[in-house]
Amino acid sequence: MENNLNMNTNTSLNNDNTQTKAPVLKPILSIRNLTKKYKERYAVNNISLDIYSGQIVGFLGPNGAGKSTTIKMLTGLASITSGDAYIYGHSVKTDFEKAITYVGAMIEIPEFYPYLSGYNNLKFFAKLSGGIAPSRIDYVATLVGLKNRIKDKVSNYSLGMKQRLGVAQALLNNPKLLILDEPTNGLDANGIREFRMMLKDLATREHISIFISSHILSEMENLCDTIAIIDKGQIIEVKPLEEIKRECTIAGSQFIKCNAPNFAGKTIFDKFGIKCLIQGDKVFFNSKDSYMLSQAIVELTKKKILVYGAGNVDYSLEDVFINIVKEHNKTTSIS
Ligand SMILES: Nc1ncnc2c1ncn2[C@@H]1O[C@H](COP(=O)(O)OP(=O)(O)OP(=O)(O)O)[C@@H](O)[C@H]1O
Ligand SMILES: [Mg+2]
Repeated sequence: MENNLNMNTNTSLNNDNTQTKAPVLKPILSIRNLTKKYKERYAVNNISLDIYSGQIVGFLGPNGAGKSTTIKMLTGLASITSGDAYIYGHSVKTDFEKAITYVGAMIEIPEFYPYLSGYNNLKFFAKLSGGIAPSRIDYVATLVGLKNRIKDKVSNYSLGMKQRLGVAQALLNNPKLLILDEPTNGLDANGIREFRMMLKDLATREHISIFISSHILSEMENLCDTIAIIDKGQIIEVKPLEEIKRECTIAGSQFIKCNAPNFAGKTIFDKFGIKCLIQGDKVFFNSKDSYMLSQAIVELTKKKILVYGAGNVDYSLEDVFINIVKEHNKTTSIS
């Protein structure tokens, strides 16, 4: 299945019968029913996902969800049980050598020779890949912000610097798609922020798409445009990050603080059929209708209840992520 973006298919501005060709948006990476079984257990179970040019997609899931297994299948480090993935239309299963030429990857913690400098490590990998000009090594070192430390020994690098060197290595062959498996693991808050800024800058300057895994949603904030959530080997949600953020508030509880919370709870239930939870002077309820809060206040005021506070309970992105996974677990019983 392809997503086609059709524009101006029936119009001709010049009135000369010249048909404007509709631009067709093709995915850079197209995962189709990808499955990995270890003995009787599905590590990845029939997942499909498209990534388009310029997109930064966060691949999010709790420990053991199947993120690394998916990425390993995409990069040839694990065999595919069934399904396939296409990179620029080339099958990972049957045309791997071609497909992988478009990809730069960093999987789990990158390994380097500690006694060599960052530069010599990159030189070593460039030699292994072949056809990489020395100027490219300097270029990628600058891109990842290691220009001033690239001649230092890797044993003197911090974790954040090693992660950057890993990205530099992944960029050596000028990829169109960067695949990163939990690159911010172990970094502190500042390290995560800097790494995120580096990736964002990279995506803009180098026009590459990024597929990045994490088990922490907030780490993806201000980086990804789309989030694909995987749990127990299945993709359970693919959504723009902005939409997830919006749902944070809309799907969250709303509360009203008043002088007669029990009566208020009963009034809301009688009028709108919404069950309330009473805690102290607060009445909590859940409604997807963003006007519900004001309607409830009007109703309570009619009943002479004194309302002195109201609002949405602000969920953090992490709460939302955990809730999506919890909801999924309620409806499935895969082990
Ligand atoms: N080589 C293997 N043999 C058997 N089972 C495996 C193997 N590799 C992974 N698994 C299983 O596959 C499932 C998915 O593991 P995977 O490493 O892909 O998860 P993950 O999402 O990357 O988790 P984490 O956040 O901990 O890195 C887990 O149940 C894991 O135990
Ligand atoms: Mg993993």
